Amino acid sequence: MRTDSPQTIFRKDYTPPSYLVETVELGFDLDPARTIVANRVTMRHNPDSKNRDIVLHGEDIELVAIRMNGTELNPGQYILGATTLTIKGAPLNVVLEIETLCAPQDNTTLSGLYVSNGSFYTQCEAEGFRRITYFPDRPDVMAVYTVMLRADKEKYPVLLSNGNLVEEGTLPDGRHYAKWEDPFKKPSYLFALVAARLVCQEERYTLKSGREVLLQVWVEDGNLDKTDYAMQSLKNSIRWDEERWGLELDLDRFMIVAVGDFNMGAMENKGLNIFNTKFVLANPATATDVDYAGIEAVVGHEYFHNWTGNRVTCRDWFQLSLKEGLTVFRDQEFSADMIGTDSGRAVTRIDQVRTLRQAQYPEDAGPMAHPVRPDSFVEINNFYTVTVYEKGAEVVRMYLTLLGRDAFRKGMDLYFARHDGQAVTCDDFRQAMADASGRDLSQFERWYSQAGTPVVTATSTYDAENQVYELTLAQQCPPTPGQPTKLPFHIPVAFGLLGAQGSDLPLNADGDTTLILELMGEREVFRFEGIAEQPVPSLLRGFSAPVILEYPYTDEELVHLFRHDSDPVNRWEAGQRLAMSRLLDLTAAVQQGAGLELDYGFIAAQRALLLDDTLDAAFREQALILPSESVVADRMEVVDPRAIHTARQFMRKTIATVLRSELLNAYAANDTPGEYSPDAVSAGKRGLKNLALAYLCAAPDEHVLTLAFRQFEGATNMTDRASALVALIHTGANVDAQLEAFYQQFDGEALVIDKWFAMQAGAPNTDVARVRELMQHPSFTLKTPNRARSLLFSFCNGNPAQFHAPDGSGYEFWAEHVIKLNALNPQVAARLARSMDRWRRYDPALQVHMRTALERVAAAPKLSNDVLEVVSKALSN
Ligand code: TRP
Ligand code: ZN
Repeated sequence: MRTDSPQTIFRKDYTPPSYLVETVELGFDLDPARTIVANRVTMRHNPDSKNRDIVLHGEDIELVAIRMNGTELNPGQYILGATTLTIKGAPLNVVLEIETLCAPQDNTTLSGLYVSNGSFYTQCEAEGFRRITYFPDRPDVMAVYTVMLRADKEKYPVLLSNGNLVEEGTLPDGRHYAKWEDPFKKPSYLFALVAARLVCQEERYTLKSGREVLLQVWVEDGNLDKTDYAMQSLKNSIRWDEERWGLELDLDRFMIVAVGDFNMGAMENKGLNIFNTKFVLANPATATDVDYAGIEAVVGHEYFHNWTGNRVTCRDWFQLSLKEGLTVFRDQEFSADMIGTDSGRAVTRIDQVRTLRQAQYPEDAGPMAHPVRPDSFVEINNFYTVTVYEKGAEVVRMYLTLLGRDAFRKGMDLYFARHDGQAVTCDDFRQAMADASGRDLSQFERWYSQAGTPVVTATSTYDAENQVYELTLAQQCPPTPGQPTKLPFHIPVAFGLLGAQGSDLPLNADGDTTLILELMGEREVFRFEGIAEQPVPSLLRGFSAPVILEYPYTDEELVHLFRHDSDPVNRWEAGQRLAMSRLLDLTAAVQQGAGLELDYGFIAAQRALLLDDTLDAAFREQALILPSESVVADRMEVVDPRAIHTARQFMRKTIATVLRSELLNAYAANDTPGEYSPDAVSAGKRGLKNLALAYLCAAPDEHVLTLAFRQFEGATNMTDRASALVALIHTGANVDAQLEAFYQQFDGEALVIDKWFAMQAGAPNTDVARVRELMQHPSFTLKTPNRARSLLFSFCNGNPAQFHAPDGSGYEFWAEHVIKLNALNPQVAARLARSMDRWRRYDPALQVHMRTALERVAAAPKLSNDVLEVVSKALSN
C-alpha cells in the first residue's frame, strides 16, 4: 500500500481570496490536439485579505507565456508548482495575460475541455476550470466573462458559450469565430463552451413579465425527434419557478446541450446547461416512463440552479449542499406539482424515501459518512453524494415542515434579497429562514454538522379511563468517522392517530388530525387528552425527517395502517414494515436450511391493496414492491447476499402463485392502448401492469411466458418492451433471440444499448464470467461513463447475489476495473470504488476476499486522489 497520504482540505481553514477578479476575457483557438487558451484577467487586491500573493490554480496545462500589467514575467517572477502558479507580493491592481496549451482529445477525465464524438465540450464544476487556464478556481471569486471562440467552421459549425452572442463571423483557413458575453458575475465553475456539429430545437417563449426569451435544445443530427420532452420540461420549469417562487429567468437566451460522454447527470453552467444525453433524449420508442420522469427532474434541477446556485452561489465547496440540497428540494417539488394530485405527490415522496434508504442511509452508516456540510475532504468530486444532495434536500424540506409554507417562502425571499450576487454559506441560508420566521433554529444547525442517521424510538401508553394517550420519543445517533458522539437533533415528527374504524382521531380541541411534534431533547413525552379509544399511531407522516423510526408495532396494527392510514406515505411504510419483517425471517430460515413459509395474513393484505380500485395504479405499484435486497442487507448484522436473494425470490414466487388470478387481472386492466403519453396516470398504469408481469414471471407458466413474449414483440413503447424483456430474462428462459432482436432494432441508439447491457448485468443468472464476456462486445467501452455504468455498476451494485460470489471473483473483477477506470476517468472510478463501502458488514469469509481486493486497488500505481480517498477510508478503522 502506498504511504504518501494525499492532502486533506479542512472547512475550518477557509480564508478569503487574496485577489478578486473583475473581468475575464478568454480566447480559444480550438484544436483537438493543441488548443491555445489566451486569458486576460483584471484583478484587484481583496481588502478582506492581508495576503498580497496571487495564487492561480492550473492542472494538466502547459504555460506558454504570462504577462503582468503589460510586462512579460520570467520564470523567476512566479512560482510554478504542480497545481498552482503563485505571484508573490503583487501590486494592488493587476492585469494578467496568460497563454496556455491543452490537448482536449487526450482528456479522458471529462473534466475541463474535452472531446466527445469529435466535438468540444467543457465541464468545470467543481475544479475543472483550472484544467483550461490558470485562474483562482474557487467559487467565491466571481467575475464577468467575455469569450471568443475560434474553430474550424466545417467540423465545428456551432460555437456556444455563456450569456449572449454578440458577434460572429468567418476567419481565413476555413475557420470562424463567435464572441459571447455573460453579463452576470459568476464563479469559474459555471463557465462553459461548446464547439460542435449540432442541431437544435428552438422556441421563443414569453415570460410572465412579457419579456421574450430564446430557448434552445442542442443535440447531434438525427436526435431532433427526441427533444420535445426536454423542451416542454424547460418551459414548465420556467413557468413553475415564476409561479411558486417568484423567480424569473434573467437571461435573454437559455440553452441546453446534450453530450454522450458525461460524468454525471447534467451541469447548470450559466445560460448553457450541458446535459448527459440520458437526461435530454426521449421518444416513446427509446425511453421509458422512468427516463421521461428523469428528464423532467433534471431539466428542472439545472434550470432552478440559475437562482439557487448561480445568482446565489457557494462560498466554498464545503457549502455544496447550500445549492444542491436546495435545488434537489426544488426539483422534487416541481415534479410533484407537475403531477398535481395528492396521491401523485405521495408517490413522488415514496420514491424519495426509497432513494434515501437505498443509497443515503448506507452512506451514512459506512466509511464515507459525512455531514451534509462536510468538515474535510481529499477530493471534492467524491462529495457529490446522496448525503449532500438527497439528505440535503430533506434538511430543506424540514424547514418547510417546521415553518409552514408561508414562512418558508418568506425565508426564501429574504435569502435572495440578502445574498443575490454573493457566494455564501449554509449558515446564511439557515439565518434567513430564522429571521423570516422568527424561529430559533440554532439546534437545527446539527443537521448540517453531524453525520449519521438518527434513530427515533417511539413508545406509547393509552389510559382508557382518562382518555389520555402518551407518546414517548427518544433519539440517538450512531457514531460516524470522526464523530464518536452526537448531540440531539431538532426533529419534526408528523403524527396522527387512527381509530379502530381506520379514520383519524382529532388530536386537540381544534380537531387537527396531524400535528408536527418537535423532538428536541434526547427523550420527550407528548400527551394527548380526549382520545376516546385505543388508537394506532401513525408516526413520521410524509416522512417528515430523515431518520429511522422504530415503534413496536404488531402485525395487526401494521395491517390496519396499511389499509387505512390517511397519510399515503405511511400506508406504504406499513406495507414495507410488514414485508421487511418477513424478508428478515425468511433470510434467517434460508441460512438455517429451514423450510420457507410466507403467512397468508401478509398475502391477504397485499391482495386487498392490489384490488383496491380507489387507489391510483401508481400507488398500488409502490405498495407492492418489496424492499430491495440491499435495503434488507442494511438491516442485517452480518450480511449474507445470497440468502437474502433466495428469501426475496421465494417471497415473490409465493405472492405470484397465490395471487395469480389477481395479478393477471391487474395486468389486463392496466393496459394503456393508443398513443403513448408519459403522464403520471398512464405511467402509473404501465408501472402496475409491468410489476404484475414481473411478479407473474417469478412463477412462470406457459401462459405467463406467452404474455411476456407477446408484450415484448408487440410493444409500442420502450417501457413495455424493456419491462417484458427484463421479466423474461429473470425467468431464466432462453431469450437470446429477443436480446439479439432488441440489439439489432436499436443499434446506434446509445442510450438503448446501455439498457441492453444493464438488463443483462443485473440478471440473476449473470455471473462474473458472463459480464466479462459482455465486455468483449464491440459496443462496449469503458471510456463512455454511461456505458461503463450500464455494465459495471449494474453488476457490482445491482446484482448482489452474483457480485458477492463466495470465491471472491466479483471483487477481483471490481478491483481490476476500478484500476482500469482510474487511469481513464478518476471520477467514475471512484464511484465504482464505492461499491465496496460496506464491506465490513459482510460474512467474514467474504470479507477476506473484499479486503484483498481493496488492498489491491490501494496498492495500485498512479492512483488518483479520487480513488485513493475512497479505498483508504474503506480500509481504515
Ligand atoms: N452541479 C451539477 C448538478 O447538480 C452536477 C455536477 C457536479 C457535475 N460536478 C459535476 C456534473 C461534474 C458533471 C460533472 O446538476
Ligand atoms: Zn445540482
